[in-house]
Amino acid sequence: MMICSLAVGSDGSSSQGPAPGDASHKRFSGMLPPAALLFLVLVFVAGAIVTLHHKETLSILQLQPRRVAADEEPSRPAPPASTAAVTETHIDTTAIVEAPPAEEPANICENQCRSPGSEALPRGIVQDRSNFEFESLGGNPGREKVRRPSKSLLAIPVGIKQKAVVDKLVSKFPAANFTVMLFHYDGAMDGWSDLAWSRRAVHVAAADQTKWWFGKRFLHPDLVAEYDYVFLWDEDIEVDGFDPLRYLDIVGKEGLEISQPALDHRSQIHHRLTARTRRGGGVHRRFYKTEGGGRCYGNSTGPPCTGWVEMMVPVFSRAAWRCAWRMIQNDLVFAWGLDFKLGYCAQGDRSKNVGIVDSEYVLHRGIPTLGDAKKVKPSSSSASTAADRYAVRQRSYTELKIFNKRWKQAVAEDECWTDPYPQPPPPPPPTATPKG
Ligand SMILES: *[C@@H]1O[C@H](CO)[C@@H](O)[C@H](O)[C@H]1NC(C)=O
Ligand SMILES: *[C@@H]1O[C@H](CO)[C@@H](O)[C@H](O)[C@H]1NC(C)=O
Repeated sequence: MMICSLAVGSDGSSSQGPAPGDASHKRFSGMLPPAALLFLVLVFVAGAIVTLHHKETLSILQLQPRRVAADEEPSRPAPPASTAAVTETHIDTTAIVEAPPAEEPANICENQCRSPGSEALPRGIVQDRSNFEFESLGGNPGREKVRRPSKSLLAIPVGIKQKAVVDKLVSKFPAANFTVMLFHYDGAMDGWSDLAWSRRAVHVAAADQTKWWFGKRFLHPDLVAEYDYVFLWDEDIEVDGFDPLRYLDIVGKEGLEISQPALDHRSQIHHRLTARTRRGGGVHRRFYKTEGGGRCYGNSTGPPCTGWVEMMVPVFSRAAWRCAWRMIQNDLVFAWGLDFKLGYCAQGDRSKNVGIVDSEYVLHRGIPTLGDAKKVKPSSSSASTAADRYAVRQRSYTELKIFNKRWKQAVAEDECWTDPYPQPPPPPPPTATPKG
């Protein structure tokens, strides 16, 4: 059961396993003719005798499971950047192809890992994953074996009021390398159709929902498994200092599983870690603060000093998203608190695999938009809107509390999980110093 659930969750493994041509299990399934039965009984008796005399030999044989060739290719090449995903696939594949010895043919079928719901179907027809690529209505179907060049996904929640800035943003992302998905939270979908790229974007509309609500509902890891990176961005982002292809190149080379472009200093900056550093260099992974409260040194190991990014322009590798998606709570739509836990999805050391790219940076305009309560300015609008914003802000803080509570409880309840980033014990209160 463990192996099966692993296989379902990983990339490319669902299409693998014993080759369909391997008919050994068919030979033994169904009704056996009496002659064969008799033969089997004889074999069994003979086998028992042989066992008595050749225990050693037999046990060695049994310890070496027959390897069934998984001759079907994984449907997509693994991207060079997410080696973790590759490793994951490798492990799963091994787990699946380790079929039991041929002497017990029935187990070949019993041990097959099938994704839940697909048990009634022949394995080869099952497609567990999908994508957002368009198919032409004419032409030749069934050419999916032809390798598509690898792509990433850009997903943005949008309102028609931000059309101009979103147009500039999306236009910066080359169509050959990025699939675009817009989440319309204001329902005004028609207003976008005049833009050149609008027809190649996937449009999803749901009134008054946030980026994390959309992400949880429409970016299931099995739907985005083809994309190397998922850019889940806010809409009020200026990209004059940002080149998406150079960005991909940098995060690939630096091994950043979770990243964001640095924030230009004219941005609304909430956390110093994400501000662009002036001292050249392509990437930074920590910041230093050696006086005042909340200090950060070179030996700091976690947020807010290192190992996290903010939630306005995060970029996830495929493997990191597979993890992060699972951490997003259905009902906590502002996702406050999630950022500090993202490091757990970094596929290794969060102080190495999470970083901020300085050479490709963006300007965060800080316009109050749905889903970012930090930008809310209650004084700037009508009384009713101000009340709405106040409610949003309240809710965000409440969500933060609930999320942290759930995390704590989950940690306490899961005996099989160990924290790779245990909290350092709190410093002893000064009055409690024992006097010697
Ligand atoms: C972008 O797409 C082009 C055309 O498919 C391809 O040649 C190029 O390698 C891609 N660049 C990246 C960084 O994926
Ligand atoms: C980290 O470094 C600072 C300054 O160098 C030092 O004061 C502090 O004790 C160190 N903390 C740990 C846990 O090593």
